[in-house]
Amino acid sequence: MNSLASLDQTNKRVLMFGGKGGVGKTTSSAGTALHYARQGRRTLIISSDLTPSLSDIFETEIGCQETPVAGVENLFALEIDPDEVMRRWKKKFGPEVYEALSAMIDMPYDEVVDYVAMAPGIQEEFMLDYILERIHKDYQMIVWDTAPAGDTLRLLGLPQRFLEHLRLAPRVYLEVRDTFNLSKTPFTEIIAGWTELARQVIDFFSDPDNVEFILVTIPEALGVYQSRRVISELAQHGLDVRHIVVNGVIAQPDCDFHRQRMEMQQPYVQMLREEYGERATLIQMPSLPYEVKGVERLQEIEAFLFGGEDG
Ligand SMILES: Nc1ncnc2c1ncn2[C@@H]1O[C@H](COP(=O)(O)OP(=O)(O)OP(=O)(O)O)[C@@H](O)[C@H]1O
Ligand SMILES: [Mg+2]
Repeated sequence: MNSLASLDQTNKRVLMFGGKGGVGKTTSSAGTALHYARQGRRTLIISSDLTPSLSDIFETEIGCQETPVAGVENLFALEIDPDEVMRRWKKKFGPEVYEALSAMIDMPYDEVVDYVAMAPGIQEEFMLDYILERIHKDYQMIVWDTAPAGDTLRLLGLPQRFLEHLRLAPRVYLEVRDTFNLSKTPFTEIIAGWTELARQVIDFFSDPDNVEFILVTIPEALGVYQSRRVISELAQHGLDVRHIVVNGVIAQPDCDFHRQRMEMQQPYVQMLREEYGERATLIQMPSLPYEVKGVERLQEIEAFLFGGEDG
C-alpha cells in the first residue's frame, strides 16, 4: 500500500507540506505530526501561513509561542507569521546592528534596524534559521505546514539571495567606513556571522537527508497543472518531490453525484500516476464525509497517510 511510512525509516528532521490553497496541506501536516508524536518523537508542527488554522484543527488555542497540543503527548504547535519572524529577528540582531552602525551614521535606532531588516531574503532566511534552531534545541521532528505554493518556493530560493546580498555588504560598508573616515567597523564581523548562519541554513535545507517536501494536490485539472509547476520549480532548487498526497479522492461512490465526481477525478489520478508514479509515491486520501477536526479525526488521516491498520 502506498504511504508515507517509508519516511519513518529515515533520519529526516523536517517534513514540509506544500501545494496550492485549500487542497489539504494543514490536514495532511496535522495527521503527519500526530503520527510522529505518537511514535514518541518530540514533534513540532509549524504553520507559516498568514491565516493559520492549527488552532482549529487541533481544537487548542495556538499562537506564536510553541504550545502543547491538548491530549497528545510529545506534540507542540506554533503559528508564526512573517511579522512575528521580523519582530524576532529585530530582537535578536537589532541591538548589535545598531551598535555597529551608529558609529557610522547618525540615525534613530528604529530607522537603522528597519533599514537593515529590508535586505532581500532576510525574512525567509530568518524563518529557516528559526526552524533550524528548534531542531538543534528541542525537537526530533518538525512538520511544516507551508503557505500556498508560490511562497514556499520563494522561501527556499531567498536564503541564497540573502547570501549574495551579504557577499556585497562588506564592500558597501567598507565604503561607508572610508567615507566617514572611521578606522574600524564591527559591522564586517556581523556580516561574517550572518554569512555563516545563512550558509548553515542553506546547507541544512538543501540536503535531502534532512528535509522532505511532500506535495499535496487534488484530482482535478488545476491540481495537476499546479503540481507540474511546483515539481519543476522545486527541481530548480535541487529538491525532488518523492511523495504526492492526492487528497479528496472518491473511492466508493454510492450515488450518481459521487459516481460522476469519481469519473471526473480518475483521469487526473491517472495523469499524476503516469507522470510521477515512477519517481514518487502517490498516496490517495479519500474525501471524508465530515469535517477533519480534533485528534480522533486526525488519527484517521494518519491511518490513510501511513498505511494504518491495513498495513
Ligand atoms: N480528505 C478530506 N476529506 C474531507 N475534508 C477534507 C479533507 N481534506 C481536507 N478537508 C477539508 O478541506 C478544508 C481545507 O483543508 P486544509 O485546511 O487542510 O487545506 P490547506 O491546503 O491547508 O488550505 P489553505 O491553503 O487555506 O491553508 C478543511 O475544511 C478540511 O477539513
Ligand atoms: Mg492550511
